[in-house]
Amino acid sequence: MKGVRPRSETPFATHVPVLIALAARRPIRRVLEFGSGDFSTLLFLDRGAFPDVTEVTSYEDDPEWAQRVLDRAGDETRLRLEIVDSVPAAVPDVVDDYDLILVDDSVSTELRSRTISAVAERRPRGVVAVHDFELPPYPSAASAFDRVEIIRSFNPQVGLAWFGDAVDRGELARVKATVEAHRRLPVTDVAGWTRALRT
Ligand SMILES: C[S@@+](CC[C@H](N)C(=O)[O-])C[C@H]1O[C@@H](n2cnc3c(N)ncnc32)[C@H](O)[C@@H]1O
Repeated sequence: MKGVRPRSETPFATHVPVLIALAARRPIRRVLEFGSGDFSTLLFLDRGAFPDVTEVTSYEDDPEWAQRVLDRAGDETRLRLEIVDSVPAAVPDVVDDYDLILVDDSVSTELRSRTISAVAERRPRGVVAVHDFELPPYPSAASAFDRVEIIRSFNPQVGLAWFGDAVDRGELARVKATVEAHRRLPVTDVAGWTRALRT
């Protein structure tokens, strides 16, 4: 496929550098996440990569998976993990309190597309990151956003979507350039990416 790099050996983690790069460029205090896991929920709780985070709200439809994430988060009081029947149906009516929203839920493309559409319908104030954005249903589901940009440094790719002026041109350029410049770092090397992107 044109413009798509070879698939990462750790495809579940290619959003990690992009999320760290965003946090290096803007204060991220409140995070809303759809689809929990080691590479996102625990990353948001990492005080090196995300020093300003005061609350992570995460929606998860797999109770066993949720319990595993809770176990790994330990006694972390900033995490609110909601176990729900359907992630897209659980998207809150108001999402304006969040500085960053990650959409990475479900084992089904159809369900995640519905989550993306539901988030777009709320017109969030913050920036929305969507993992696996090279999959055609996701840009399509994100078509209601004012702007969509794709970070193509890794495959799976990451879409960034927003309304109004939530992300400016300079910030976007820096995120793209710094992630690309360090793309030889393993995507799972949180400490390495934090050192590279927060200096
Ligand atoms: C792509 S995963 C979410 C990953 C998470 N956002 C992260 O970055 O770590 C999407 C969903 O797959 C389900 N799932 C079940 N088993 C899983 C596994 N072994 N690894 C990752 N996700 C799993 C969970 O319901 C999870 O929310």
